[in-house]
Amino acid sequence: MRALWGTPKATYYRDLQQSNMSSTSNLFAVAVGIKQKDLVNRMVKKFLSSNFVVMLFHYDGVLNEWRDFEWSDHVIHISAVNQTKWWFAKRFLHPEIVAEYGYIFLWDEDLGVEEFHPERYVSIIKSEGLEISQPALDRNKSEVHHQITARGRRSKVHRRTYKPGNGGKGCDGSSTAPPCTGWIEMMAPVFSKAAWRCVWYMIQNDLIHAWGLDMQLGYCAQGDRTKNVGVVDAEYIVHYGRPTLGGIDKNEASSNTRVKDHRADVRRQSYIELDVFRKRWRKAVEEDKCWIDPYQQPVEKGLL
Ligand SMILES: *[C@@H]1O[C@H](CO)[C@@H](O)[C@H](O)[C@H]1NC(C)=O
Ligand SMILES: *[C@@H]1O[C@H](CO)[C@@H](O)[C@H](O)[C@H]1NC(C)=O
Ligand SMILES: *[C@@H]1O[C@H](CO)[C@@H](O)[C@H](O)[C@H]1NC(C)=O
Repeated sequence: MRALWGTPKATYYRDLQQSNMSSTSNLFAVAVGIKQKDLVNRMVKKFLSSNFVVMLFHYDGVLNEWRDFEWSDHVIHISAVNQTKWWFAKRFLHPEIVAEYGYIFLWDEDLGVEEFHPERYVSIIKSEGLEISQPALDRNKSEVHHQITARGRRSKVHRRTYKPGNGGKGCDGSSTAPPCTGWIEMMAPVFSKAAWRCVWYMIQNDLIHAWGLDMQLGYCAQGDRTKNVGVVDAEYIVHYGRPTLGGIDKNEASSNTRVKDHRADVRRQSYIELDVFRKRWRKAVEEDKCWIDPYQQPVEKGLL
């Protein structure tokens, strides 16, 4: 945001802190509803104090209640009811618009950042050359859906998971495809500028992308996805797995049985979309005679 006159005051906390952050700033964008305001408050404070620019994508139409937070006027608020973070990102994070940011964090709201240090995270992904990454999930406190996202206690980062079994179809050192390697989950992705430009073009503006986009992300890794995509163990978060957009919380469900849970509808829509997306992908590949798919087998069979 710009001052209308005088010297531009770049970000909220810079003057308070007198700290020496890197000169490129980074962007933290998060889809929020008022029900998670406590978690969001902690995230926003942490990222502002690390000199990030912060954008809130409000999907529940509630804006006034955020004004109680002293940081409210120092973040960018965008509101559209019942839209996913990919919908917002496609419309408000155009690569040219966000070109000044080194890294784009595009997160869900149900994450705990108590042990997370944004600036340390950025310095790790920079030195490790991770173009697409996520912080590891604290195993004890998190809802972990995929082994690769769980925190390894002894490593700084990891780029693959080892999971025996599954009828000989597990992940091992020779796996070359998601979800064994070259892959992260989509609740807390972090993109380099170049990776974001690629991902932005992949997002379809007529699809909600509740999920399914993740399998394609390796194509945006700016090189070998088994090297440039990874999970940071040294800086980790908690994934609470709370029902957010498209869901309702349990208290509400038990006190009012008439409330319809829309998660099943969202899931159904997502399957339909996944099919549409795959068809478009195949068509694009067929039409582009100059492009050879580097990953003929995009997914390790039977694992997802
Ligand atoms: C900030 O950077 C300046 C110049 O590079 C240096 O003199 C100063 O000690 C640094 N301050 C802190 C708090 O690191
Ligand atoms: C996680 O739980 C294990 C076993 O209960 C415990 O030993 C470990 O210290 C816990 N780790 C964290 C980070 O709380
Ligand atoms: C948004 O979704 C909720 C339930 O998920 C629904 O009750 C509400 O009518 C929707 N609002 C709009 C404007 O579509």
